[in-house]
Amino acid sequence: MSSHRYHDLLALLGEGSAHPGGFAMSVALLSRLGLHAGMRVLDAGCGTGRTACYIAQQYGCSVTGVDAHPMMIRKAVKRARRSSVSVQWVCGNVRELPFPAESFDLVIAESVTVFMPDNEAIGEYARVLKPRGRIMDLELCARGMIPEEQVRLIYGAAKLPSAEEWMNRYRSYGFSRVKLLRNRRLSMRQTLRSEIDYPDPHRFVSKGIHKQPGLTDTLALNGMFLAEYETCLGLVAIEARK
Ligand SMILES: C[S@@+](CC[C@H](N)C(=O)[O-])C[C@H]1O[C@@H](n2cnc3c(N)ncnc32)[C@H](O)[C@@H]1O
Repeated sequence: MSSHRYHDLLALLGEGSAHPGGFAMSVALLSRLGLHAGMRVLDAGCGTGRTACYIAQQYGCSVTGVDAHPMMIRKAVKRARRSSVSVQWVCGNVRELPFPAESFDLVIAESVTVFMPDNEAIGEYARVLKPRGRIMDLELCARGMIPEEQVRLIYGAAKLPSAEEWMNRYRSYGFSRVKLLRNRRLSMRQTLRSEIDYPDPHRFVSKGIHKQPGLTDTLALNGMFLAEYETCLGLVAIEARK
């Protein structure tokens, strides 16, 4: 299973919070960021746009969502229309962000940077942030031994970084005040709890999804990976300043 196949699956399923901790984690983290009306926020790898819409609706920020997957962006457009929220949607690559330097006060990334085989995306976050702008990145991390071939198969990355390695990646791109807002074991129970507490009212599952070739294989592989390595997997939320 390539990460590309995995993202196709998420897009078909219309998944709104395809990141560790689910929507509950987004809500909790965003409440710590001092968001306010007029702030320019970029959701990098926004998927179907649930977090981006929430930031615009809840905090009145001027939000842009960018994602490389056209179906994700189509579903994000639909979500925003259905919830009467104004967000700018852009189909583009986080490794080559289609925005001028110093455009945003805050960049949010939720389970996106981990799929980059290199660190280019972090350099791009830095480039598009205004001076003293901030990044908040919520990602999977390793808390134990996970075979590299498994990580490559699922995430297309050579390695799942530990919390310390994630922080060093940000430091190496000149970010300062790099801190961990969260650093804990991954909990399937918590993710399930989030889905119960925060059901997604604008999830659009593609018709005929069950006929997609390889769908069940992709689902099964991902499920088996998470179940087998649950004790070795964690989530980190990093906040850092440019
Ligand atoms: C695991 S999903 C997370 C989506 C969303 N942030 C969320 O939490 O629901 C990863 C997202 O990253 C997007 N993505 C992967 N590589 C990308 C790239 N190079 N540029 C832009 N988006 C990318 C995928 O299309 C997918 O929507």
